[in-house]
Amino acid sequence: MSISFLNGDYMPLEEARISPLDRGFLFGDGIYEVIPYYKGKSVGLMPHIERMINGLAAIEIKCTKTADEWKELLDDLVARNESMGDNLGVYVHVSRGADVKRYHPYPEGVEPTVFCFCFNIKDPEPVDRTKVTQYSLVSTEDLRWQRCHIKSTALLGNVIHFQEGYSSGADEALLYNANGELTEGSSCNAFIVKDGIIATPIQDNQILPGITRRIILDSLKADGSLQVEERTITMDEVRDADEIWITSSSKEIAPVTKLDGKPVGDGSVGEIWEKAFAIYTASKYDF
Ligand code: PDD
Repeated sequence: MSISFLNGDYMPLEEARISPLDRGFLFGDGIYEVIPYYKGKSVGLMPHIERMINGLAAIEIKCTKTADEWKELLDDLVARNESMGDNLGVYVHVSRGADVKRYHPYPEGVEPTVFCFCFNIKDPEPVDRTKVTQYSLVSTEDLRWQRCHIKSTALLGNVIHFQEGYSSGADEALLYNANGELTEGSSCNAFIVKDGIIATPIQDNQILPGITRRIILDSLKADGSLQVEERTITMDEVRDADEIWITSSSKEIAPVTKLDGKPVGDGSVGEIWEKAFAIYTASKYDF
């Protein structure tokens, strides 16, 4: 049984209830996070909390919890859900709350709704290119909004893109802008490798500032054995890449071996993936 947190109270997840006038429900007016815990140890907890606090400030949701209070709440929720299993994702959702009417402007004096629950996530993948799960993607033009750096609960644009991939038998949709430049996946960031050099799109309003992306960049730079760049990447480069990876809190670094039905590189998981995933795995709990 999953114990959830809703506005200060703990309860079985299936008993949690909110008002249909909640602006999260009516407008997708909220911010969320998904944070992985393996055997009780979090990956990127503080960076996730900081991103959420920044997102709340960006859309003027006044939630007074400090970063330390969030940490205490989330660590405590994971401890309460220990019996669910070793690997838990924590979903955190803060909406602008429920007003007494449906009216677009930000209301005054409405308390935000805070909702958190744990769910099972998979074991980390092995650092072994012959055993890791391989991903297949389809590419499609990114038709989401122009504030993709905000981790908004309004995910219809992402959901439509994910479904495009899913209904054509792929695991994810890889997105590009109107200039034919890579942005990200519908629920993950993206990296390519060409001639041993790793590259990922610049962090701007077109992509979510992924915590996994950040951990990869920081741990690779600290290690120093692999070259990594943040830059504009065209879809021609993506199609010509030796390796493609997608990254997120639940997927960590997932190797892509098929794009639009064609093999990526030689069609097998690349050597650079294995090196990078080993470096990431060795340092992920430091973030
Ligand atoms: N997705 N880009 C998008 C659009 C995302 O939705 C996500 C995460 C990421 C990767 O971010 P991070 O490394 O911080 O998880 C990038 C989450 C897991 C989700 O919506 O379930």
